[in-house]
Amino acid sequence: MGYETITVKPIAGALGAEIAGVDLSRPLSNQQRSEIHDAFLRHCAIYIRDQELDGDDMMRFARYFAEPAFYPFAEGIPGYPQLFELRKEPDQLKNVGGRWHSDTTYLDEPPIATMLYCREAPEFGGDTMVANQYLAYETLSPGMKRMLDGLTGVYSAGGDRTGREENKNMTMRNTDRTEQYVAEHPAVRTHPETGKKALYVNSEHTVRFKDMAAEESLPLVEFLQAHCTRPEFTARIRWEKGTLGLWDNRCCQHFAINDYHGQRRVMWRLPVGAEAVV
Ligand code: SIN
Repeated sequence: MGYETITVKPIAGALGAEIAGVDLSRPLSNQQRSEIHDAFLRHCAIYIRDQELDGDDMMRFARYFAEPAFYPFAEGIPGYPQLFELRKEPDQLKNVGGRWHSDTTYLDEPPIATMLYCREAPEFGGDTMVANQYLAYETLSPGMKRMLDGLTGVYSAGGDRTGREENKNMTMRNTDRTEQYVAEHPAVRTHPETGKKALYVNSEHTVRFKDMAAEESLPLVEFLQAHCTRPEFTARIRWEKGTLGLWDNRCCQHFAINDYHGQRRVMWRLPVGAEAVV
């Protein structure tokens, strides 16, 4: 697609693009919306710099893709129950999301996308890595693909997989119920908009495959996790104050790099679009 209202600059071979030419503090035209949507599907993870946004602006931009969704374990900021703050203070050592994963795969309808808005960035560090799960699937052997195509994953939030300690700046909820959040999804999903197959296994939440024991499943989960985050499948989003990022959880995993101790990093985070996995 030739873009007329935005510029789109890929940031890596596998995925990721920087978009420029839009002001998200105002409603977008239909053409801007359609071009950004196209870039999102094509590049899997996008970001736009120098945005001055409030909660309403984020909700409006999210709704161009789907209705904002809820994270089950954190209260939203005042007036925006779905939008919550991720904050790491200079005296804290743990961060949130510092392991490869796709978001909340233990829900029956996980969010199609995750939006992050950077309100305060460390001077250096604090990037988010993203990994392309279409490529992860496509580069497996035919035999492995055949086997995975028939597998169902079991995904859990139990056993402190929600990172209670890392989340201590947030008002948490439901943390005594994490074991109840268990879902089953295909290990290989078909993206409903692109029609492409993507690997949907992550060692953070995939506790086993259905009809298999955890001991049988975990070596395969570990292999797939190492495979699906090979360097050539990844890109890094470098945050600056005012950067708005959006990645597609249907074809991406992400990892928040914890390399900025002694500095503050503040993000607003909004899950977008609860959808059954097919
Ligand atoms: C997460 O959603 O896992 C955190 C991402 C980040 O803070 O970069």
